[in-house]
Amino acid sequence: MSIARRKFDCLVIGAGGGGLRAALQLAESDAHVAVVSKVFPTRSHTVAAQGGMNAALGNVTPDNWHWHMYDTIKGSDYLGDQDAIEYMCRAASRLVVELEHYGVPFSRMEDGHIYQRPFGGQSQNFGGEQVARTCAAADRTGHAILHSLYQQNIRARTHFFDEYFVIDLILDDEGNALGALALEIETGEPLLIEAKTTLLATGGAGRMFRTSTNAMINTGDGIAMALRAGTPIQDMEFFQFHPTGIAGVGVLISEGVRGEGGYLVNGVGERFMERYAPNAKDLASRDVVSRAIAIEVREGRGCGPDKDHVLLKVDHLGAAPILKRLPGIRDLSMRFANVDPIEKPIPVYPTAHYTMGGIPTNRYGQVVAPIRHAPEEAIQGLYAVGECACVSVHGANRLGGNSLLDIVVFGRAAGNHIIEHLKEHRYHKSIPDALVEKPLARLHRWDKRGKGESVDEIRKELQKTMEENCGVFRTQEVLDEGVVKVKVLESRLNDAVITDHSKVFNTARIEALELENLMDVALAAVIGASARHESRGAHSRLDYPERDDVSWLKHTLYFKEGYQLDYKPVRMKPLSVDSFPPKERIY
Ligand code: FUM
Repeated sequence: MSIARRKFDCLVIGAGGGGLRAALQLAESDAHVAVVSKVFPTRSHTVAAQGGMNAALGNVTPDNWHWHMYDTIKGSDYLGDQDAIEYMCRAASRLVVELEHYGVPFSRMEDGHIYQRPFGGQSQNFGGEQVARTCAAADRTGHAILHSLYQQNIRARTHFFDEYFVIDLILDDEGNALGALALEIETGEPLLIEAKTTLLATGGAGRMFRTSTNAMINTGDGIAMALRAGTPIQDMEFFQFHPTGIAGVGVLISEGVRGEGGYLVNGVGERFMERYAPNAKDLASRDVVSRAIAIEVREGRGCGPDKDHVLLKVDHLGAAPILKRLPGIRDLSMRFANVDPIEKPIPVYPTAHYTMGGIPTNRYGQVVAPIRHAPEEAIQGLYAVGECACVSVHGANRLGGNSLLDIVVFGRAAGNHIIEHLKEHRYHKSIPDALVEKPLARLHRWDKRGKGESVDEIRKELQKTMEENCGVFRTQEVLDEGVVKVKVLESRLNDAVITDHSKVFNTARIEALELENLMDVALAAVIGASARHESRGAHSRLDYPERDDVSWLKHTLYFKEGYQLDYKPVRMKPLSVDSFPPKERIY
């Protein structure tokens, strides 16, 4: 087979914060690392993270990592694995300082300490007063982190394949990861990358919904690759809707706006969050605030001519704090809502934001899965970190500010584990031609152009279906209808074509491959949601309104083969402290 081949110690797929933090750890240990990214690395979606990264530095209010751990477990509605959560919250402060040393320009307080703002669902003293824990670089924290990590990787001589799209992972019959087949987007040439370890860091799948804060690139590529390789994926029914997307557009308006003193009002001018979360109010957990907004609108108390959104008010703060702490938000609001928040409130509505589920891993980033129905164990040489992974620190609902933390903590941890793995696995296993046939066939499936149903039409229908049938509020009837509709779309995609009038050929081909990925992930989400007969975190069932710890305190596993579901226990035992048993979740 005459496909170009390259060999590396480590292949990292995805150049967001998780991939780049792992790559940096590896490159600094003299491993030969390749990062493959379908966009130029600094366009990866981490760049869009606004409000900040949580760490119990205690610069503004008293704080410690135990309180952060408690808030994260409560926020997860007790579905988060407590060993991984302890590991993350303990590591946070050290990793913020490390980022500062990499050059991240965090905002400062008068005394020079890193600035921290209040974020939702976070408290002092296990549920007491609001804490200020979220370390911010104005409202462009992800941008600052991603650029610093990219520059550090350039210094450390990480090899980048920019604008290459990975078609599929390659695993041998024993389940060892051998590398991946990629496509150079500009030329359409395939490239086989052989590696002793492969790390997936491809981000989430927010593009399966019509209105989303996610970039066009967030199409669940790594999650779908893992599924096709035979691993199950975990907890996909838990998808976060951010309370404050610009109404009708979806563009993110950071929780940092409420952290800086902004608040929500409904169509009758009422601060309605006081009714839903008497203590935390506008800084309740995201699932709580999103549901509250949806209820206000559904019950006729929305704003605007169609009463279809609420307002986020910040004009009372005055111009100075907005210009200093929220300049990016002001810019987005003026561009996408035609509103200057210094003068007028921003129209907002919940919008698809974050994939809580993903590829099951342990806290070293190893993919841990009952692959091909063998007993659950770590797959040799295969790792996943960040939004495509489910370690699981976010459980049923992620706290704002914990995703930037997740990517640096577990990116670094995976890097360290890979360094140890490489000491024991010093030689490449060559990829036999036979193992390349399937990924190559997936690519060539989209070589043909012609007449027939277009990929664009099917993508639009998928996004509409997911919004209508797997949104903020769910019922059995609506979810079951969603399962049927997505399965029909899946079979229509099998017959779809790249139409003759499609734009640039390789771009159209990538969009088709991305839609296949979205389809797999959407099926996992809607099938998992239809089977889970309780309400927990972001999964809110009108027909099963209560959390049910007796039957449902467990993770969902979804297998592509036969659309099968299985379940596994939550890891309730932390590493060094007592566990936090489930209790009623009040804000
Ligand atoms: O609201 C925000 O700034 C988003 C932060 C996050 O999702 O962690």
